[in-house]
Amino acid sequence: MLRVKKIKAGYDQVPVLFDVSFDISVGELVSIVGSNGAGKSTILRTLSGIIKPMAGEIEFMGERIDTLPSHKIVQKGIAHVPEGRHVFGKMSILDNLLLGAYTVKSDTIDKTLREVYEIFPRLKERAHQKAETLSGGEQQMLAIARGLMSCPKLLLVDEMSLGLMPILVDKVLHILKEISRRGMTVLLVEQKVQEALEIADRGYVLQTGRIVLRGTGEELLNSDLVKKAYMGI
Ligand SMILES: Nc1ncnc2c1ncn2[C@@H]1O[C@H](COP(=O)(O)OP(=O)(O)OP(=O)(O)O)[C@@H](O)[C@H]1O
Ligand SMILES: [Mg+2]
Repeated sequence: MLRVKKIKAGYDQVPVLFDVSFDISVGELVSIVGSNGAGKSTILRTLSGIIKPMAGEIEFMGERIDTLPSHKIVQKGIAHVPEGRHVFGKMSILDNLLLGAYTVKSDTIDKTLREVYEIFPRLKERAHQKAETLSGGEQQMLAIARGLMSCPKLLLVDEMSLGLMPILVDKVLHILKEISRRGMTVLLVEQKVQEALEIADRGYVLQTGRIVLRGTGEELLNSDLVKKAYMGI
């Protein structure tokens, strides 16, 4: 579904990603893990067209997308849930969700909303409250739910765990797994290496802008590199 080939990308002509290649098949949950500043968010920004790669190619559903503007990439079916949630606090939860559906035909919005409420019953209960009244974990769920409202083929999720208590990290990651089980293809980038690999079908380890290891979630969890560098074993 997604094929990233030798991407070089960065800011103001200074690359922070070097020769990054990976792929995702339909229905997979793939995690890219790495420490602060490794370049995880930059990968997602490059996929969603916010920054343009200096070299390399990105193919989605058999078509080059790295030259397209962001809004065209959204229309192709890629939704990006950015780091830091960015929900609109003064707007209701329902209005936040409807914003996510701005590219979707109106007759499918009700159906999608029902599905999203099934996954996130809390958001249904609170649909008419302001988003700022939600807890951090609930706001993270709203950000993901808003991404789902665009009926994407591929959901990009940046740092689900940011600022959440450990118990909530497990909860939101579990929900992501559930979304994946329902058939969504998901790319998660995470600093919480162990948790993100535990739920992943496959994963990649990113260090200072380079992919240094790839494998199934289990293979990576059992690798010396992951154990030493990220789990302190
Ligand atoms: N807007 C920007 N302008 C210039 N440099 C940036 C910008 N955003 C990120 N960088 C740099 O690019 C590198 C990779 O950053 P990126 O945000 O992709 O890392 P990350 O893996 O997402 O980190 P974190 O886990 O802290 O979110 C870092 O060295 C960072 O300082
Ligand atoms: Mg980041």
